[in-house]
Amino acid sequence: MEVIILDTAEEAEQFAASIILSKISKESHARLGLATGRTMEGVYSHFVDAHERGLNFSNIRTFNLDEYIGLSPANEASFYHYMDEHLFKKIDMPLENICIPHGRALDIEVEIKQFEEAITHAGGIDIQLLGIGNNGHIGFNEPPSSLSSPTRVVTLSEETRRQNAGAFGGNLGRVPTKAITMGLRTILRARQLLLVATGSHKANAIANAVEGPIRATVPASAIQLHPDPWIVLDREAAQNLEFIDYYKAQAGGSERVADQLQFIYQYMN
Ligand code: GLP
Repeated sequence: MEVIILDTAEEAEQFAASIILSKISKESHARLGLATGRTMEGVYSHFVDAHERGLNFSNIRTFNLDEYIGLSPANEASFYHYMDEHLFKKIDMPLENICIPHGRALDIEVEIKQFEEAITHAGGIDIQLLGIGNNGHIGFNEPPSSLSSPTRVVTLSEETRRQNAGAFGGNLGRVPTKAITMGLRTILRARQLLLVATGSHKANAIANAVEGPIRATVPASAIQLHPDPWIVLDREAAQNLEFIDYYKAQAGGSERVADQLQFIYQYMN
């Protein structure tokens, strides 16, 4: 487990972006798992900058974690629309390389099956980007979620719907009650996990996910079962971690972290 703690949210977003961008610069056919949420907006802005500096995204394949049931890709509150606004329309990825569960599929079970098959067919996900909900969800795996859950339909908690109501004009009644989410089992199959969290409102969820017992009521704690999870935080999100000094010492001596800082210095400033 690599826990990397940067001073500011901007530095954390840049560091997280650098992990994916350095991967793309070495492997132009990388397969990425993508996430939505405010935290990711800063991360994707670095992808757009890298594209403007000449990085080629045209062979990248992407799989998004989740989508609201009942929303079409054209709906402004859909995660498809979010991805288009913040990333896809600003880079050179062909539409056929993008895979996001369709919230208005005629047959949701078929949609789910095809989503899992598309990941398998692509050879699995190289890096899965993750945000975290204040309640410890990843994707839309709400507490409690089976640690080996597949992609499925979930009921959203009221807390999550409140948190995400901003995209629906602040109107809780307009936030769908159900979603399709990539399951924890599918997430854990990715070769690398990259969880990003910033702000003090994430501090409890992060402490529980990284250091708490692995349990269904903190779905993000499933990352402890993964062989290579990276957790990138700002100081505020890291403030409740018990082993904070250890993580800092570990990151200070890590060659992989040094390589990322070098990449940032050379290509992202
Ligand atoms: C949504 C997404 C999650 C994301 C979470 C955090 O609920 N389904 O994948 O982690 O938002 O969002 P934010 O970054 O806005 O706090």
